[in-house]
Amino acid sequence: MPYTVPKLSDFSPAALDSAVRELLSAIQEEKNALVNEASEPSVASSKKTADLKTFRDRWLARKNGVVSQMTEVWLKVAPPGAKRDVGQRVNATMTVVEHHVSEAKERVEFFARQSPAALESNIKVDSDLQALRQEATRSQLELQRLDITLPGIRRPLGAEHPVIKTMNEIVGVFRNLGYSVEEGPEIETDYYHFEALNFPPNHPARDTQDTLFIAGQESKPQRDRLLLRTHTSPVQIRTMQKTKPPVRVVCPGKVHRNDAPDATHSPIFHQVEGLAVDTNITFCDLKGTLDHAMKALFGSSVKTRFYPSFFPFTEPSADVQISCIFCDGKGTRDGGPCRNCKASGWIELLGCGMVDPNVYGFVDYDATKVSGFAFGMGVERIAILKYGVDDIQLFFQGDVRFLEQFG
Ligand code: DAH
Repeated sequence: MPYTVPKLSDFSPAALDSAVRELLSAIQEEKNALVNEASEPSVASSKKTADLKTFRDRWLARKNGVVSQMTEVWLKVAPPGAKRDVGQRVNATMTVVEHHVSEAKERVEFFARQSPAALESNIKVDSDLQALRQEATRSQLELQRLDITLPGIRRPLGAEHPVIKTMNEIVGVFRNLGYSVEEGPEIETDYYHFEALNFPPNHPARDTQDTLFIAGQESKPQRDRLLLRTHTSPVQIRTMQKTKPPVRVVCPGKVHRNDAPDATHSPIFHQVEGLAVDTNITFCDLKGTLDHAMKALFGSSVKTRFYPSFFPFTEPSADVQISCIFCDGKGTRDGGPCRNCKASGWIELLGCGMVDPNVYGFVDYDATKVSGFAFGMGVERIAILKYGVDDIQLFFQGDVRFLEQFG
């Protein structure tokens, strides 16, 4: 049954769209059939042009062409509210129909001009072309072939470096106690690094901090000479210089020593320094604070012990030891002496003390009014104990197999 414009009972946009679709697919089909026939060598040219005229008239004739039927059957009878919608669709459809008709005209007239022999060879070229196209598509598909059984590309996730992770953890413990964070330069002056920390020039305690001095500074006064800092303690001075008491700070950072690398030494490592200065701060506060910090880092069953020591900037000074986390402080493990604590049951972990009154003199604090404590710990040393690492060099070699274990 050839297509005729159907009467509509529903003038909703959806119904109109579907009616238009039906009409356009009808003309498409008729056009294809017409052009196909025109390409046949066996059909006479006169029949081709006659059929083209029939096709054109059927769709575009003023009287009863499909396009004019559209106006009669759809537009004229559309309810007033739908007129605008119908009108727009009729116009747009008319344009498409005209396009199809002129395309059909062009192609049919072309075929009608050709001799049967030429059409014959056209068909051959056409089918060769199809074969070629098929081959091209096939090889393109071959190229794009996707082996879904291959493993995907893994994008490994980075992990926080164990030293930074430990440093953040230590800082976190003190932040929770209300400490703030300060940083200082890695290249320090003799003044901040030694003199203001109560290491007088030529004092033998300087020898315990063997470091690298920047060359060619002989003409400068000693206090201005630059060196790589061996500890974070100068940040204590810088902090007190710019802040009035009370002060509670932790100072994480990198330090340098003139040490040959081995399993327990590295020329570069990290420290976290701490300083609390206020009125009436006592050694009890120091003990309580560090005991709490060690329990927070190593677990609540860890005990601490304060062992007399010496640092020029604290008086009295102490080394803090924790009960050995490998043998639970017993000194023996697996029936033999514990190697980690050399059978003593204790592991030395950090230095601390009450700030020496001389230090207050360098920062304009009144030593008769304030008191305070300071401490300094090695981050790698704590990481080694926490994670059971047996060689400090592993932290600096960048071996992913080591590092990824901390992800
Ligand atoms: N600066 C010392 C060092 O690197 C560690 C230290 C000891 C820091 C006692 C302190 C302290 O603040 O009070 O060996």
